[in-house]
Amino acid sequence: MGAVLEDIRKRPFIFNGFCALVLLLPLAWTSSKAAVKRLGFPVWQRLHRLVYVVAVLAALHFYQRVKVDHTQPLLYAAIVLAGFGIRLFAWRLKNRSRSARAS
Ligand code: HEM
Repeated sequence: MGAVLEDIRKRPFIFNGFCALVLLLPLAWTSSKAAVKRLGFPVWQRLHRLVYVVAVLAALHFYQRVKVDHTQPLLYAAIVLAGFGIRLFAWRLKNRSRSARAS
């Protein structure tokens, strides 16, 4: 455990990777249909939004790891951002049609 902590102190990219891994644990534990039922969908969905944080941490972890040519980590980060953009667009469309139905 001491060696792991020392590694985290010396190499910040390890810290981000470790945080991403820790945040993935509750998602892995609650990925069954039974877990969705137990938690109820709204709570489950809120919890699973942690995946957005994990995606940012993982992209950062990769970026910090690479020392010379950042093309590949930047490409990964762009894919993550594009995914966020698509989600945001879908969310806005859903909200717009919901408020149009309400008025
Ligand atoms: C305790 C947790 C973690 C540790 C100690 C760790 C450590 C490392 C190390 C040492 C590398 C460099 C490997 C190499 O250059 O050959 C690496 C690369 C990478 N890690 Fe992690 N990692 C952790 C968690 C994660 C998680 C949770 C993700 C994704 C969700 C992730 C994504 C990546 C990616 C995309 C790379 C680049 C792979 C490549 O160079 O092709 N890591 N990690």
